Amino acid sequence: MTTLYQFLDQRCDTQNDLKALIVAVADAGIAIAKLASQNGVDGASLGSATGSQNDDGDDQKQLDILADELVAKAAKDAKAAIYFSEEQDDAIALHPDGRLALAADPLDGSSNIDVNIAIGTIFSIFKADDISNGLPPSGRYQLAAGMIVYGPQTVLLFTFGDEVLAFALNDDRQFTKMIWQVAISQTSHEFAINAANAPLWSETITAYIDDRLGRTAKPAANMRWVGSLVAEAYRILRRGGIFLYPQDSRPGYEQGRLRLVYEANPIGMLIEAAGGSASDGTNAILDAPVTTLHQRIPLFFGSRDEVTKLLTFTSPTA
Ligand code: AHG
Ligand code: MN
Ligand code: MN
Repeated sequence: MTTLYQFLDQRCDTQNDLKALIVAVADAGIAIAKLASQNGVDGASLGSATGSQNDDGDDQKQLDILADELVAKAAKDAKAAIYFSEEQDDAIALHPDGRLALAADPLDGSSNIDVNIAIGTIFSIFKADDISNGLPPSGRYQLAAGMIVYGPQTVLLFTFGDEVLAFALNDDRQFTKMIWQVAISQTSHEFAINAANAPLWSETITAYIDDRLGRTAKPAANMRWVGSLVAEAYRILRRGGIFLYPQDSRPGYEQGRLRLVYEANPIGMLIEAAGGSASDGTNAILDAPVTTLHQRIPLFFGSRDEVTKLLTFTSPTA
């Protein structure tokens, strides 16, 4: 059995402050997993609204706030320079001498807290020196990225860019290395999209989904929509498929729903490191310039062949 601490200790090529920040985020994840497991017990009502909204206009749930506090504390304890959070309007300056910055979606899938479906924490680490005009660099500059999924198993997945490492939380509250060699299968018949938005999609997305459905007869296709990005990403890392959150005609959804800094970039780095693709419909997610802290971006990721197929619809000249 190899614990996360042992594994990182053995990675001599990884800087100590980077190891410390990953361990701190993992420890925050252990605390969040424990909190989530006690939802509805002794008055804990973690899925209920706090009455406040974040910068994106999402209603904040109790667990959104608690998770944000835990991840912010992790960044501070690990001596990061800056913390960027989906739940905070502005960046939080921490240690002026810190070399690293952390960006996080502290609690992804908050509408699933009360229905006991997998939720998670998504994180992205980069050099504080790469921050320009107060904004994180594009995803290509991430030093490490990952997610913790709180499901039947609590699993930490992260990458330094070369491979995806997976650790499961054991009964002793320690992350231990899984035997899973994370690699996305290049073909798959599963797709994930919120089909309730079909009347609002662009013609290109409608044409792609029509094509996808037209290819369903042999072999059978399957549709999945969990409503937690972390759970969709986990499934795709396990058995391939494609995830789509396109732009649509609702006000505020002109660039989709998901956030570049807190969601698309870290998930994009995991997916690419596992051999898949992540795109905004034209370019690789990891190359998208960051123009505002909470900017949204259309997000498509998964098995390489299927994302390539999608791009023949969304970006035929690319
Ligand atoms: P968050 O809870 O951090 O706001 O993220 C929720 C996201 C994502 O997890 C999921 O893929 C998507 O919202 C679901 O959106 P719809 O409710 O529009 O289907
Ligand atoms: Mn999210
Ligand atoms: Mn969130």
